[in-house]
Amino acid sequence: MPISLLIVFHSITGGTQQMAEAAARGAASESDVAVRLVRASEAVANDLLASDGYLFAAPENLAALAGVMKDFFDRTYYAVLDRIVARPYAAMICAGSDGTNAVRQVERIVTGWRLKKCAEPLIVCTHAQTPEAILAPKRIAPADLRRCADLGATLAAGLTLGVF
Ligand SMILES: Cc1cc2nc3c(=O)[nH]c(=O)nc-3n(C[C@H](O)[C@H](O)[C@H](O)COP(=O)(O)O)c2cc1C
Repeated sequence: MPISLLIVFHSITGGTQQMAEAAARGAASESDVAVRLVRASEAVANDLLASDGYLFAAPENLAALAGVMKDFFDRTYYAVLDRIVARPYAAMICAGSDGTNAVRQVERIVTGWRLKKCAEPLIVCTHAQTPEAILAPKRIAPADLRRCADLGATLAAGLTLGVF
């Protein structure tokens, strides 16, 4: 069985999706790791059980992890509790201007799963401030996409080498 990296993401206006896709490209370019990119609304407990490492990517909405991502954790939490201990993970948050509380929530949730943080969380801010800008489709800057790709590559390389 190839080593596998699961990227679970949620996105409304496209920012997080671009980040997750960049991370997937980075991971695939660095190694033989099998990368699976799954929408949070479609991800199930078996996706977690079948993967060796995780990247969780979501927007911050209303100073919290976006509800659909929270729903993913709610639906899968007890089904995988004690069954994915010590597997490595990283988190990416797409935010208008903050993102820190969403990071805190992800870190708190996966502490219960006893996952191992293998990289610092990556926050990308879109700097959208007005309602029109917040609701508009997002375009993530190339430099930020490179940071996402690097994170994906780091995760994949570490999984391949077994260093986490
Ligand atoms: C209802 C709503 C609430 C939001 N609340 C926050 C917030 O609390 N902090 C923040 O930094 N950005 C906030 N934003 C901005 C989003 O995080 C930002 O638009 C981001 O690009 C969304 O990710 P997406 O493009 O993947 O959907 C909010 C956006 C919406 C629609």
